[in-house]
Amino acid sequence: MTSISGPTRFVLFGHPVSHSWSPFIHGMFARQFDHVVDYKIQDIEAGSFRQSVINFFVEGGGGANVTLPHKPAAAEIVNELSARAERARAVNTIVRRSATELYGENTDGIGLVTDLARNLGVTIGGSRLLILGAGGATRGVLTPLLEQEPREVRIANRTPERAHQLAEEFSDLGEVSASGFAEIDDRPWDVVINATAASLAGEVPELPPRAVGRETVCYDMAYGRGETAFMRWAAERGSKRAYKGWGMLVEQAAESYLLWHGVRPETRTVMGALDRL
Ligand code: ATR
Repeated sequence: MTSISGPTRFVLFGHPVSHSWSPFIHGMFARQFDHVVDYKIQDIEAGSFRQSVINFFVEGGGGANVTLPHKPAAAEIVNELSARAERARAVNTIVRRSATELYGENTDGIGLVTDLARNLGVTIGGSRLLILGAGGATRGVLTPLLEQEPREVRIANRTPERAHQLAEEFSDLGEVSASGFAEIDDRPWDVVINATAASLAGEVPELPPRAVGRETVCYDMAYGRGETAFMRWAAERGSKRAYKGWGMLVEQAAESYLLWHGVRPETRTVMGALDRL
């Protein structure tokens, strides 16, 4: 095994975080390059997050991933933010420039776009795109999605005001509108992305009956073993193309790996391995 230069300790901060697949994914990436990478999980409560990040980098940590609920706090800690992370107001990847200089990026949106475009062959450019939910998950992916130039983006949310707020904030990047679920256009959308937390509770937002058709690509940003509630719901409405967020998880991790190590791992074998778990 050859060792990469520089620090090799990496960490994922979250709470809760014990269920994370990231150590497995980064381990598989490292083996592709014969890198020696120590990637560990740290379950940190909100009150100790800032100090934990500082300690980690002062002690020579190489880079960090950040997951719920710390992504917005991470955006406040770093010295410099990418344009995407600034818009997202959330950071999932911290890059060490020096012990005191930290750079924050958000690779969630690019991970989603890469999974849709490269792995699933979905063309977002020119499409009618419906996003369910108006929380941090949606905010985190809007910039990369809008950069693909969809014809139209509708953000629909249980609390419509939150959707309107987001639509207004991102209106300079494209055609973005907002509504509650009941007001969604009742004809098949090209792509429907579920960014609500409803899936985690096994629930699915109530959409008009014809919003999903046979050709509608339905993508659940949530993931886990087996089909999610949203995938089952989409299939029941006739969608032949319902996916969960495994690919987004692996692709965002590959982008983090690229930022830290300067090489982008191949992702297909990792997704295959996750599918077999
Ligand atoms: P996150 O950062 O994960 O997006 P969040 O900011 O709490 O978390 O947002 C969660 C999203 O899931 C919101 O859009 C929320 O809708 P509200 O803004 O109306 O709260 C949505 N959500 C959560 N549970 C839901 C449910 N059972 N049905 C529909 N939407 C739900």
